[in-house]
Amino acid sequence: MTRESDGADAGGADAGGGDAGGGGERLQKVLARAGFGSRRVCELLIEDGRVTVDGEVAVLGRRVVVETARVAVDSVPVPVRPGTVHYLLNKPRGVVTTAADTHGRPVVVDLVPPEPRVFPVGRLDADTEGLLVLTNDGDLAHRMTHPSFGVEKEYLAEVEGSPGPLALRRLRQGVDLEDGRTAPARASLVAPHAVRLVIHEGRNRQVRRMLDAVGHPVVRLVRTRIGPLADRRLSPGEWRALGTDEVRGLERAAAGEPERPEGAASPPDPGGGERRGR
Ligand code: URA
Repeated sequence: MTRESDGADAGGADAGGGDAGGGGERLQKVLARAGFGSRRVCELLIEDGRVTVDGEVAVLGRRVVVETARVAVDSVPVPVRPGTVHYLLNKPRGVVTTAADTHGRPVVVDLVPPEPRVFPVGRLDADTEGLLVLTNDGDLAHRMTHPSFGVEKEYLAEVEGSPGPLALRRLRQGVDLEDGRTAPARASLVAPHAVRLVIHEGRNRQVRRMLDAVGHPVVRLVRTRIGPLADRRLSPGEWRALGTDEVRGLERAAAGEPERPEGAASPPDPGGGERRGR
């Protein structure tokens, strides 16, 4: 049990496993701020041995330096560094996913607040629309884009012609591209000229090349989901901050936990609530 109940975080005994000299903040306070519930609930998580700091199971009384500590709950990393922001942007067509464009085209970072500086997680082609995460959380970005983690991405593609069972089967089995066979995709025809495709690789122009290869070039491509994140209310050019639950959902997806079913509705609380455009 802890003695902490007054909200003050200076001083106090270190019950073991803490930073030398008692520096940093109490772990339950850090977890509560990250959205895991009240401090009491977070103490229970610690007591149950579900929280690690730098890979070691934490005990109650543990203090952490949030700038450097790697905190995880149930093996899923928790972003605790102050000033970390995560945005979900609905990228419009014609905007490029790089920090600067040599051809003077608009860039995604111009659509979100300039401070703190964020960068896009992965990329969408200039002519692709849809959801893109931007953050200054380099660890999460790395985990989300690393091929071995494979966060699912769902796309809606308007295509030339109407893909039949054979084309859909090829997409589901994996398509031979010049850089090798793709992993099997989930593919379904949602309208005569529209395919929903779920992939977890992130190769360059992958969806366009897969659909080209099965004889149905893309006319329009929209990314509609990234792991657990979908938001049909976000208009092109609008962004919003992700809520702590949503960031945790992304962390879980990057850690390899199962996704929500294909085509599932947006979460009831889409996080920060406020939608903005610049
Ligand atoms: N696949 C593509 O072909 N383009 C994108 O922008 C994303 C996935």
